[in-house]
Amino acid sequence: MAGEAFAMQICPTIHEFRAARARLGTLGLVPTMGFLHEGHLSLVRQAGRDCGQVAVSIFVNPAQFAPIEDLATYPRDMPRDLRLLEAEGVALVFAPEPSEIYPEGFTCRVEPGELATRLEGATRPGHFSGVATVVLKLFNITQPTAAWFGQKDAQQCAVVRRLVRDFDLPVRIEIGETVREPDGLAMSSRNAYLDPAQRRAATVLFRALQAARATFAGSEHDAGTLRAAMRQVIAAEPLAVLGYASIADADTMRELDRATADALALVAVRIGRTRLIDNMRLRKGSPAGSPGLVRLSPVTEV
Ligand code: PAJ
Repeated sequence: MAGEAFAMQICPTIHEFRAARARLGTLGLVPTMGFLHEGHLSLVRQAGRDCGQVAVSIFVNPAQFAPIEDLATYPRDMPRDLRLLEAEGVALVFAPEPSEIYPEGFTCRVEPGELATRLEGATRPGHFSGVATVVLKLFNITQPTAAWFGQKDAQQCAVVRRLVRDFDLPVRIEIGETVREPDGLAMSSRNAYLDPAQRRAATVLFRALQAARATFAGSEHDAGTLRAAMRQVIAAEPLAVLGYASIADADTMRELDRATADALALVAVRIGRTRLIDNMRLRKGSPAGSPGLVRLSPVTEV
């Protein structure tokens, strides 16, 4: 896409987006909350290779933040985001105000069910209902051929796959591999909250997941032993407070007794006031999620 003559169109309203979208055919969507990094941009590039034309939404979705969470302070830099997306050859940006998405009188919500109560959902009640609600709206507004999500947020991927299946949405879901810093820390907009000492400590998530993988590769299939291996790494990091260390099924997020190669190791850790999450398949290259629900994009794993 890069190098071609084009003008990226920025649409703050549903009406403008729909009018612009109607002029395009196949369209890939990358939903984001902005403050873009290489993880987001890798999804944009994959969508471009697959669909040709790409739309990116930038919307910090109030419905997925609890009142005590960081909605007000969530990092934002719209001018920089737009520059980055223009350089990627993105065709359309949907950047609505909250009142455009949730006008006066808005009451409906998607309830994803049990899957949304585990792991992230246990600490963040209502979070995945907010995600599923906005994703359903974004799909209806943007009418994409396919939409890209990051493996970094594995439970979000599972919720979106469930949403598409349960509501028969005509959107193909694609999952992009987690993009990491050179030391293994998964890129995240929230990494901006970390001071230098916390930033160094934040590699503990990657180290814990590597420990689970190494233990599994050593033929240890007892999930409890793998969880203990992750907890041990996290306990050794003074700045880190354990949220969870899980070995779970990639579609249901149910905890497993016996680990399989396609199961996920997932960790959540609090460092200072910042909550970080990460995950890995137990065996590199194993598909995460049931076949037929998701086609994996090219694997670029550490
Ligand atoms: P946001 O956190 O901005 O992330 C947008 C997309 O980028 C998500 O699909 C996320 O999984 C992906 N992503 C984040 N970090 C990544 C990394 N290091 N490597 C690869 N992909 C990464 O997730 C959301 O926004 C919101 O919940 C949203 C889906 C937009 C709904 O509001």
